[in-house]
Amino acid sequence: MTKIISVTGKGGVGKSTFSSLILKYLTQNRKKVVLAVDADSNSTLGEMLGVKVESTIGDVREEMLKEKDNLPAGISKQEYVDYQIQSAVSEEDKFDLITMGRPEGPGCYCYINSILRTFIDNISSKYEYVIIDNEAGMEHLSRRTTLKMDSLFIISEPTLIGIKTADRIRNLAFEMDIKIGNYELVINRAQNGLDAELEKLLTELEFSKYHLLPYDPALEQLLIKNVSILDLPDNSKLYKKILEIGKAL
Ligand SMILES: Nc1ncnc2c1ncn2[C@@H]1O[C@H](COP(=O)(O)OP(=O)(O)OP(=O)(O)O)[C@@H](O)[C@H]1O
Ligand SMILES: [Mg+2]
Repeated sequence: MTKIISVTGKGGVGKSTFSSLILKYLTQNRKKVVLAVDADSNSTLGEMLGVKVESTIGDVREEMLKEKDNLPAGISKQEYVDYQIQSAVSEEDKFDLITMGRPEGPGCYCYINSILRTFIDNISSKYEYVIIDNEAGMEHLSRRTTLKMDSLFIISEPTLIGIKTADRIRNLAFEMDIKIGNYELVINRAQNGLDAELEKLLTELEFSKYHLLPYDPALEQLLIKNVSILDLPDNSKLYKKILEIGKAL
């Protein structure tokens, strides 16, 4: 059974960083067991991972809408659709990446979206893990494409407002009809542990688990040099924490 891991949280908290490092863990010594999905319309995951993204699902959707009555000769509709969609999968040595890309423009997308959904469900089942890097905020939960997640990681900054926001996201996810195995809170850039007030707040909330990730200056250096985040050294203090989280998946 494919394990679906979804990563959410407000803007700039470290969702893409966390998704990338979990991907690094899951692909260590193993190939092609993970499908990464960049579900943020402002797609940055590919760039972080050092992947050149040629086409997005958003591009395919627009193309299909434009060309649906005007298919190239000698090719069936299904073949055309399969070919187009396949072009939105970036195949890397160790993993595959799908970039969802821009949201829908005006037009009738119901038919196209149902084809795309079936495709994404089918392709997901071929991997051991699917890791979804979501856009900031909660809206993606109501526009959900999947009805089941094994783990929902909610990333937060180490502040009262940050953790309360994470809790609101947890509550919303809980109220929706999505089956979620674990709700795990990840407090990122928690340099010196947590202060008493945050500790107290956490005892009142209902996360299955919570994790603290340290600030790691090595990350900024990778981004400045435009090096894939997958090259973060295994002995960095941030990656050591990711190992602990990854082992429990
Ligand atoms: N633990 C950390 N140590 C140092 N820098 C970090 C850490 N976590 C994230 N960052 C940096 O913070 C910035 C934002 O991280 P990231 O892009 O992962 O956030 P995001 O939640 O995906 O943002 P967005 O909402 O824009 O998608 C990046 O420059 C990243 O390198
Ligand atoms: Mg991001």
